[in-house]
Amino acid sequence: MPHSAREPDTAVVRVEKMAAGGDGIARLADGRVVFVEGGLAGESVQVSVHTSKKDFARATVVAVLEPSAHRVVPPCPEVARGCGGCGWQHATAEGQLAWKVDIVADALRRTAKLPDAVVRPGGGVGPWGYRTGMRLAVDRNGRVGLRAAGSHRVVALGECPVAAPALSALLADVRVHGADEVSLRVGVSSGEATALAHGDRARIERLPDHVAIGPAAVLHETVAGRSLQVSAASFFQSGPQAAELLVAVVREVCGDALSGMSGPLLDAYGGGGLFSAGLGVPQAILVESSTSACADARVNVPSAEVVESLFERWAPRPVDLVVADPARAGLGREAVDVVAATGADCVVLVSCDPVSLARDSALLAAHGFRHEGSTVLDLFPHTPHIEVVTRFTR
Ligand SMILES: C[S@@+](CC[C@H](N)C(=O)[O-])C[C@H]1O[C@@H](n2cnc3c(N)ncnc32)[C@H](O)[C@@H]1O
Repeated sequence: MPHSAREPDTAVVRVEKMAAGGDGIARLADGRVVFVEGGLAGESVQVSVHTSKKDFARATVVAVLEPSAHRVVPPCPEVARGCGGCGWQHATAEGQLAWKVDIVADALRRTAKLPDAVVRPGGGVGPWGYRTGMRLAVDRNGRVGLRAAGSHRVVALGECPVAAPALSALLADVRVHGADEVSLRVGVSSGEATALAHGDRARIERLPDHVAIGPAAVLHETVAGRSLQVSAASFFQSGPQAAELLVAVVREVCGDALSGMSGPLLDAYGGGGLFSAGLGVPQAILVESSTSACADARVNVPSAEVVESLFERWAPRPVDLVVADPARAGLGREAVDVVAATGADCVVLVSCDPVSLARDSALLAAHGFRHEGSTVLDLFPHTPHIEVVTRFTR
């Protein structure tokens, strides 16, 4: 069906389920799948089709004809101003976690060919004030905010209800010049804060004196009873609540593989050592590509052997257990080959993208690893972001 960019087609569709990324999935009358921004599973909606391809289309909700029981008015006032930071403010917490579980099960069924995979909800962090770090966009007046959904427009924020109060309190006043983006982070347990502008000639102004500025700035956060150093340039989970929950779930999922370990743990994509420190193992090899995260790990886990390397370039050594927490792209073929070459019979994979989890599951299966169960966590409430902890054994 031809589609005019000047006069978008409209249609009435029934949203069947939710897609990774947060859109609803429905079908147009001609049978094509349409990804519906703003639609929730089960709803009948009128949509405006803005992108029409041979095999699929993209559309936006114009009117909700039959709402889902999980539809709510977005509690955050910034959504009405166009802020695209949270894609699922219009849904209940129960709906969000249930859809996250469904999206993971669907990805494992379709991509990893695992129709009966065990996928369970594992809880989440509190819905408000959970984020202690944010990468923010800078508008032309130097104010910080988040981009509008599907656009480069910056919606400057006076406050943000998903940010920890100490982080939200910095947003209205800070000004950044000479950079498009800035990362702000606070330490809940220490009261410290850091700021890092992403630009060579950046100037950050109007921050309180306690905020340390630049890539070498550090703060401390307490997780699983351990104080962790986090440099401004290093990765950290959405906040200490998320880090705490993740460590607890990884510990539980490792189970007997952790308690019965006689050799080292391989903490792959180990960052600043959250798992090596949090799991309290006597021996760990931590492989991580970021110089700043490796520096943090050497402070946080003095007993660990910290190797600064791309994981896929690391020469495998024998280990008992692998905990791997890669970035969104997942492990991929080369890293899965490295994992398999360690000789470990148990791999606990922490994934932040269900599609890459499914791809990695298929790659691990080729090395004899069975999918033993996935636990889905909500570490970013009000967004479609999904975290999954999966155990594989052979
Ligand atoms: C999702 S974070 C997890 C970090 C840590 N496990 C934690 O929970 O804090 C992924 C980490 O992998 C690192 N990384 C990204 N690509 C990598 C690669 N190819 N090899 C090794 N580390 C990599 C990043 O610097 C980041 O610290």
